[in-house]
Amino acid sequence: MPGEHEPMKRRSPVAETGIAADAVVARARAWLREAGRVVVFTGAGVSAESGIATFRDALTGLWARFDPQALATEAGFRADPALVWRWYAERRAAVAKARPHAGHAAIAAYEARGGRRVDVVTQNVDGLHRRAGSRNVLELHGDITRVKCLEGCGTPESIDAAFDWRGDPREPPPCPRCGAPLRPDVVWFGEFLPEAVLAEAQRAASACDAMLVVGTSALVHPAAELPMLARRGGARLIVVDPAETAIDDIADARIRAPAAVALPSLLAE
Ligand code: OAD
Repeated sequence: MPGEHEPMKRRSPVAETGIAADAVVARARAWLREAGRVVVFTGAGVSAESGIATFRDALTGLWARFDPQALATEAGFRADPALVWRWYAERRAAVAKARPHAGHAAIAAYEARGGRRVDVVTQNVDGLHRRAGSRNVLELHGDITRVKCLEGCGTPESIDAAFDWRGDPREPPPCPRCGAPLRPDVVWFGEFLPEAVLAEAQRAASACDAMLVVGTSALVHPAAELPMLARRGGARLIVVDPAETAIDDIADARIRAPAAVALPSLLAE
């Protein structure tokens, strides 16, 4: 079990390259072996090596190329439903083609090995953790392969049985119950996260011994508060990301490497 912790604000050891890097990785690996409860908290970066674009990377990120107000808000959808629908159709097609990589597989194998409780809390809507075999997955921002009624008319939240989304029509199909347009079952800007899922993620974060944060800029709230909850609860915080993140200052270890490279060795038996 992790031991004493230093104060919240301080620089953490960084694994870049060389012997010092190996020492940071070894220490983080030991924390992850010893921990009885672990939360793996992921963002878009964990899917980057599966070919899915992140949001805020300078040249390749979706929000560097597209307007989130037009494409990821209810107002944007109401203003131009066909445009938003087609944009999500393209992203769904990319997700359908993508395959989980060695990093996703390492997380799933770590959970399957048993001996500890592992919760994967993800901001991603691509389902790659579940497809890799992770079982305890909390999806904070929804699932791009599901749809729901724009007016929330009381149909079950997930009505993917309502139509074949792989045959994507050009316009949003009507809700089978009330006729309002169907929309992607993802959380848009200005919307609340699914309450029960967020509460469970907060509970897991507060109770864990170690939190492994992978591929998130940690800029979007309330998801970005989960690492703070983990630190406050006394957990070791390990950040895997090739770039700086907003939570580097409170991390116990920062591993500056891509997920598919870092995770298999970090989570090895
Ligand atoms: P961001 O695009 O903000 O951050 C992605 C992070 O992944 C960055 O820190 C990158 O350096 C890192 N990264 C890039 N390639 C990587 C790799 N191969 N391995 C590991 N890390 C890598 O994405 P999120 O933090 O997930 O919200 O964004 C949070 C939310 O903002 C998203 O869920 C989405 C977006 O608006 C909603 O859709 C509600």
